[in-house]
Amino acid sequence: MDTQKVVQSIQNKEARIGIIGLGYVGLPLLLEFAKAGFPVAGFDVDSTKTEQIAFGKSYIRHIPSSAIKQHLTDNPASFCTTDFSRITECQALLICVPTPLTAHRDPDLSYVLQTGEQIAPYLQAGQIVTLESTTYPGTTEEELLPVLEKGSNLKAGKDFYLAYSPEREDPNNKDFSTATIPKVVGGLDADSLAVATALYSAVICELVPVSNCRTAEAAKLMENIFRCVNIALVNELKIVFTAMKIDIWEVIRAAATKPFGFMPFYPGPGLGGHCIPIDPFYLTWKAKEYGIASRFIELAGEVNTSMPSYVIQRTMLALNQDGKPLRGSRIVLLGLAYKKNVDDDRESPTYAIWEQLLEHGALVSYHDPYCPVVRPSREHGHFAGVASISIDQVNAENFDVAIITTGHDNIDHDAIAKRLPLVVDTRGVCTPAPNVHQA
Ligand SMILES: NC(=O)c1ccc[n+]([C@@H]2O[C@H](COP(=O)([O-])OP(=O)(O)OC[C@H]3O[C@@H](n4cnc5c(N)ncnc54)[C@H](O)[C@@H]3O)[C@@H](O)[C@H]2O)c1
Repeated sequence: MDTQKVVQSIQNKEARIGIIGLGYVGLPLLLEFAKAGFPVAGFDVDSTKTEQIAFGKSYIRHIPSSAIKQHLTDNPASFCTTDFSRITECQALLICVPTPLTAHRDPDLSYVLQTGEQIAPYLQAGQIVTLESTTYPGTTEEELLPVLEKGSNLKAGKDFYLAYSPEREDPNNKDFSTATIPKVVGGLDADSLAVATALYSAVICELVPVSNCRTAEAAKLMENIFRCVNIALVNELKIVFTAMKIDIWEVIRAAATKPFGFMPFYPGPGLGGHCIPIDPFYLTWKAKEYGIASRFIELAGEVNTSMPSYVIQRTMLALNQDGKPLRGSRIVLLGLAYKKNVDDDRESPTYAIWEQLLEHGALVSYHDPYCPVVRPSREHGHFAGVASISIDQVNAENFDVAIITTGHDNIDHDAIAKRLPLVVDTRGVCTPAPNVHQA
């Protein structure tokens, strides 16, 4: 392979960049390359996504349709398709597909492997494949590489380049975007790293090259495990301090004034999103292969998954104060999204709370301006189609208690606390009042 020539074609922006998987990670990355002046190609198995792009429509709330229209729909150098034979038209192939857990909480690499199988028949000599999906150390070389080689009759490192570069996207973070977040890159060999570096440095402010793919895979897991463990710690401290009648939010504000050696994390009703509740268990699973138990990760998982039960317990106590049982009480959940100001409800702890409330015989509704209807999903299919009630319906006539599960900025939680008999606040967004109970 003529690595210098490949690098040159990337630097000259002649190389077409293909992104496979146009979700929360892939779509912003595709836009970034298109904005930088590269010809781009988006691939997805979900034709509703490629069709919406063709109509200049965004399906992710924080990505404006105008950006899709300008950089993709109306851009003659761009196409989005479900036809994987057009892989041949790309120089680089960036894989951004899901890496969930199976029902038994083991890594589910089926999307990554299926993508490898889809690419392989069309893989060309001199192309670079990089994996962006979060996964355990070893995936790129032990799992993806053999699938690519088998289906293409090409050899990694000899005929095509292979790299791993984890995504650090934080949806709706106003301070950091895809281009301004430093990016870790590991290559199969020196040439793969050189091509991957040329590729990403064209659109990303700062690259962090590491020795190999495994190190890059491990770095991503370490970041997310760090968050998972610290969130579990602060959730545990919330339970302790609440029992002591100490306001955890005030404690965090005070502790965060320490200018060194402390980083604030915030408690909540549990963990949500596509990453933090899932990724740590990729390492737990892989560590077992080496006979090692990752106890911190397991414990953090235990604490975080027990938080919905704690919220239920606090809701029971709050209702008890009003002489009411949970059974038959009318409860509104304020927020379906896993974090504020986004429309992403994947792994949202609101669902676990909702399930448990129903088990106790409560009557449950929800309000979320960003999730107007519950989307079909594997985990909570039975809630699919349930619609958010309007904010005007959140009043004392309709409900005994509101549980603040998300804390969206565009909901006036204090106003709700004034008009409802009880509020259970898991996000610290309400001004303290006798009818507001922290949970
Ligand atoms: N969402 C985040 O904030 C975030 C942040 C960092 C890392 N990640 C990681 O990035 C990866 C992707 O996450 P996401 O949030 O973008 O997922 P997503 O579900 O939003 O998007 C994935 C896309 O891949 C498509 N897809 C599935 N199988 C495919 C296949 N075989 N071929 C082509 N397309 C296929 C799906 O239709 C979907 O559009 C995951 O590994 C995740 O852990 C996500």
